[in-house]
Amino acid sequence: MLIFLWAESEGGVIGYHGHLPWHLPADMHFFKTQTTGHTVIAGAKTFASFKRPLPNRQNVVVSHRPASAFPAGVTVLNSLTAVRQYAAEHAAEKLFVVGGATLFSGLAADVDQLYRTQIHATFPGDTVMPAIDYTQFERIGHQPGVRDERNPYDYEFDQFQRKGSTEAAGSSDAQ
Ligand SMILES: NC(=O)c1ccc[n+]([C@@H]2O[C@H](COP(=O)([O-])OP(=O)(O)OC[C@H]3O[C@@H](n4cnc5c(N)ncnc54)[C@H](OP(=O)(O)O)[C@@H]3O)[C@@H](O)[C@H]2O)c1
Repeated sequence: MLIFLWAESEGGVIGYHGHLPWHLPADMHFFKTQTTGHTVIAGAKTFASFKRPLPNRQNVVVSHRPASAFPAGVTVLNSLTAVRQYAAEHAAEKLFVVGGATLFSGLAADVDQLYRTQIHATFPGDTVMPAIDYTQFERIGHQPGVRDERNPYDYEFDQFQRKGSTEAAGSSDAQ
């Protein structure tokens, strides 16, 4: 099952200068909770922003570069076709596509579920989430974010499932 997991601020901003535009520990916790024990699929720029393979997850990187350009243990896929083939071969597993915009754009027709964090604040950005046709999805989960000293924004977590999908609807616990 292919799942998009991302956070966006007002205007769909998701990145700035190769990094997240904000510091929101509650969303990082959500990311870790949801993806641990599963597979993360990242574009090469997003993977570089992690600094190292994410622990306790199968790391898949999409890049034109050879596997030798990446740390041992990382699976490197050289095209979106290869990603689709990988997804077909691991259909029973949770495969979290964690960005960036190039992967979200290229795989929008293939994704089964969406895990979206919306941050109701404005940040400077140079990378924007590609348009998602939400009429193709139904909402299957919602959790409001808790605003506090360390997370000084209003934010919320939503999960969507593609309509008519035969995949089992997963649930998630954000907090
Ligand atoms: N807010 C969020 O939830 C979130 C999530 C993820 C990322 N981000 C942010 O988004 C920004 C990065 O996004 P991005 O769209 O610029 O980059 P990206 O998707 O992370 O990486 C782009 C790179 O992926 C490889 N790639 C992409 N499509 C490919 C294909 N079809 N075949 C082979 N390789 C392919 C290429 O790497 P090579 O050059 O190695 O070939 C390309 O340069 C950063 O600021 C990051 O922090 C935000």
